[in-house]
Amino acid sequence: MNDIPEIMKIVITGAAGLLGHGLVMVMGKRHEVFRLTRSDADITSTEQVRAAIGSIKPDLVVHPAGIPDLDICESDPAEAFLVNYHGTRNVVDAAREVGASLAYISTDAVFDGKKTEPYTESDATIPPTVYGRTKLRGEQIVKTLPAHWIFRVSVLFGPGKTNFIEKGLKKLAAGESYPVASDQIGSATYTLDAAAKIMEVIEARKYGLYHLSNDGACSRYELAVKAAEYAGLDPKGITGKPDAEMGRRTPRLRYAVMAMAALTQAGFSPPRRWEEALAEYVRTLRFE
Ligand SMILES: NC(=O)c1ccc[n+]([C@@H]2O[C@H](COP(=O)([O-])OP(=O)(O)OC[C@H]3O[C@@H](n4cnc5c(N)ncnc54)[C@H](OP(=O)(O)O)[C@@H]3O)[C@@H](O)[C@H]2O)c1
Repeated sequence: MNDIPEIMKIVITGAAGLLGHGLVMVMGKRHEVFRLTRSDADITSTEQVRAAIGSIKPDLVVHPAGIPDLDICESDPAEAFLVNYHGTRNVVDAAREVGASLAYISTDAVFDGKKTEPYTESDATIPPTVYGRTKLRGEQIVKTLPAHWIFRVSVLFGPGKTNFIEKGLKKLAAGESYPVASDQIGSATYTLDAAAKIMEVIEARKYGLYHLSNDGACSRYELAVKAAEYAGLDPKGITGKPDAEMGRRTPRLRYAVMAMAALTQAGFSPPRRWEEALAEYVRTLRFE
């Protein structure tokens, strides 16, 4: 295993993305963080990734870069595999070359969505979507590194990039209505809480696979309605609809709640309840 110093040199891929932004904000307070965006290195280019990571020689690479959109992945599987799998392989190879450990951001979409109780880290991974399959292949390549972490997160909200919650609230504030799936149950993840927990686990050098979200479960509809309530907006413009009527290319998992068994077993407390995190996030938004 790598010898990691107290103050680490950390490369964060996808640093302009939603989770990347949160990771930079949180990890940058304690460590020397290097933001890697697409303009610094396209992760599908072995040479660009090797040059960028090779010139920094980090102790750790945190890798959230990828294509998280299920419909984009489904409509262009070759591009999805190129970015989410081959891109991850390039990042893994570059980390290996400089002796860095690596933390990969994965997803609840590696599961089939057929369970009726929370998925644990030891549950079988049978992704029904292209996106889920590309992310699972990413996990497999990350596991070839001796010093690695895999954090499976679920629907993300947080500062730095417009997301599902903010878009919905802006519509409500403008007097528009919009539909949200009422039969898609999952966990929700505040990027700043996830980033803080990722840093805590990494600093403790407890390698492995972790489910990571805010505590509790909700439908996307409940999430949107709660956000409206916290923002002081009338939620009646939000219509709960079955996922099948949402007109989306890729059916979403009906049930994708994640149990944070590995975190608890390793002695970490799970992040706070999703309602509390959502309320804090919504207080930071402005709708004028
Ligand atoms: N969003 C969710 O609800 C969710 C749920 C579960 C898991 N996850 C996982 O969490 C991770 C982060 O998600 P996110 O929502 O933060 O995604 P995001 O906002 O789309 O950020 C991903 C970043 O990756 C970058 N990227 C994409 N292709 C690239 C390439 N070829 N070379 C270099 N950079 C590239 C994007 O750059 P550009 O800005 O230039 O496109 C973007 O900044 C993903 O790996 C995703 O699978 C997300």
